[in-house]
Amino acid sequence: MLNIFKNAKENKYAVGAFNVSNLEQAKAIVQAAQKLQSPVIISTSEGESKFIGKKQIKALVDVWRKEINLPVVLHLDHGKSFETIKQAMEAGYDSVHFDGSELGFEENIETTKKIVDFARDKGVQNIEGELGYLRGKSALHEAIEIKEEDLTDPKKALEFVEKTGVDSLAIAIGNIHGVFKTSENPHLFLDRLKAINEKIGDKAFLVLHGGSGTPEQDIKKAIQLGIVKINVNTELRIAYTESLKKSLKDNPEQATPYKIMPAVIEAVQMVIEEKIRLFGSDNKL
Ligand code: G3H
Ligand code: ZN
Repeated sequence: MLNIFKNAKENKYAVGAFNVSNLEQAKAIVQAAQKLQSPVIISTSEGESKFIGKKQIKALVDVWRKEINLPVVLHLDHGKSFETIKQAMEAGYDSVHFDGSELGFEENIETTKKIVDFARDKGVQNIEGELGYLRGKSALHEAIEIKEEDLTDPKKALEFVEKTGVDSLAIAIGNIHGVFKTSENPHLFLDRLKAINEKIGDKAFLVLHGGSGTPEQDIKKAIQLGIVKINVNTELRIAYTESLKKSLKDNPEQATPYKIMPAVIEAVQMVIEEKIRLFGSDNKL
């Protein structure tokens, strides 16, 4: 996984981390990756991994890896407790995100460091930490105002990386989780990203959460400024539910899941393909 990030940084593209909680969403990711010959990260949050099952999604990913011979990475997204991270490692996840951003700075460092030490022993390839306040949730919601104090401080980011030893760091640079209902999502604070990137250098890879709804030009510039992983969830959830509602409405008599779901998978796959192209990870194997 770290080789994928290294290659992404050198060649100025980012790898998409797409959230799933069921087989259809996972299928959409794998099909998009195969079509566009792109590395991909399949992410499950705490809630998503509880629903699909950590061992179950791991088994699915293993089967696809053998079948399609592409780098498909399994990642735990926003693990908030040691216990969840431990379960993901035991299930065989390749990569874990410990989100201690709600903790105070010192406590976030201390807990993240413990997780890094533990995960290294278990052979996890990428441990992602988080610093800064990322507002919103992965849904359609009202506009949120971003405050200066939410943003990741470059000096603190360096201290965090050096003291914890994380491989990658999720930062707050004006990004939010989710998509605003009635207005555009906010622009990124690209100067802040530049400052963080200059401080961190090659000490850790930078991760952008809240990839849904972010202005496309900002995404492109963020990749030029060192972002190598971009998380996307809300847009996939919306594509899934809108397409499912339409499918059921258009075919009220249809009761066969395998006839209802292909249109849903296709709708999700289209969003993933757009993101892969936007992130520039197509044909980057
Ligand atoms: O961790 C997941 C992401 O940050 C997803 O954010 O729902 O705004 O795409 P999003
Ligand atoms: Zn996130």
